[in-house]
Amino acid sequence: MSGRLRLGVNIDHVATIRNARGGDHPDPVRAAEIVAAVGGDGITAHLREDRRHIRDEDLARIQTATDLPLNLEMAATEEMLAIALRHKPHAACIVPEKREERTTEGGLDAAGLHNTLVPIIDRLKEAGIRVSLFIEANERQLDAALRLGAPVVEFHTGGYAHAFLDGDRERVASELKGIADLSALAAKNGIEPHAGHGLTYENVQPIAAIPQLAELNIGHYLVGEAVFVGLEQAVRQMREIMDEAR
Ligand code: PXP
Repeated sequence: MSGRLRLGVNIDHVATIRNARGGDHPDPVRAAEIVAAVGGDGITAHLREDRRHIRDEDLARIQTATDLPLNLEMAATEEMLAIALRHKPHAACIVPEKREERTTEGGLDAAGLHNTLVPIIDRLKEAGIRVSLFIEANERQLDAALRLGAPVVEFHTGGYAHAFLDGDRERVASELKGIADLSALAAKNGIEPHAGHGLTYENVQPIAAIPQLAELNIGHYLVGEAVFVGLEQAVRQMREIMDEAR
């Protein structure tokens, strides 16, 4: 299944910069338009409970501005479910959310939260929204995703990215093996595997080389690079590295 690997660009941190001054610049919608123009495959945005980056009104504006599929990252709450059902994004990626964290630090406990997730996933699916679960690459969580009937899982690559930053080769290799093995297992069981979190030009290659992965979602690094080279160039360069890895 080693086809073209899709790149979903998470534009949350364009909104973070905007929100730092409370005005309307830089506009995440303009970022979405640039991603579309440069051949990105999707827009990812996380509407957090505290609205620290993307806000409710941004969602409709993003959907109007581009034809790219929108992947809405959301906590498993009634509030977010209602918003997802109103906006009907192409996909909804259910993520764990803690108010005090700086970013989504771990995967969703799909196994422990089975009963909470069942009605939310069912209602998203009924509305024609493609459900994805943001989980750690382990068998317990993948089994839970299977039991929940999720068509997609996104493996959290944060542990891999941290190991890479620490220069710990053994941990890099074992994190990578975990993601590769679980991607193969997901695909074998009819679940489409995606991956994301903490990916950069330096660490994306071995992840992009995993043949079963269908999509990567990358945000913070691309927005950071965009400060220096522009978003268009940053997305192009990431795309090139991903293509070379295949
Ligand atoms: N995928 C998911 C499910 C996420 O929650 C995030 C971060 O919001 C990302 C991908 C992108 O991570 P990063 O911003 O570190 O590239």
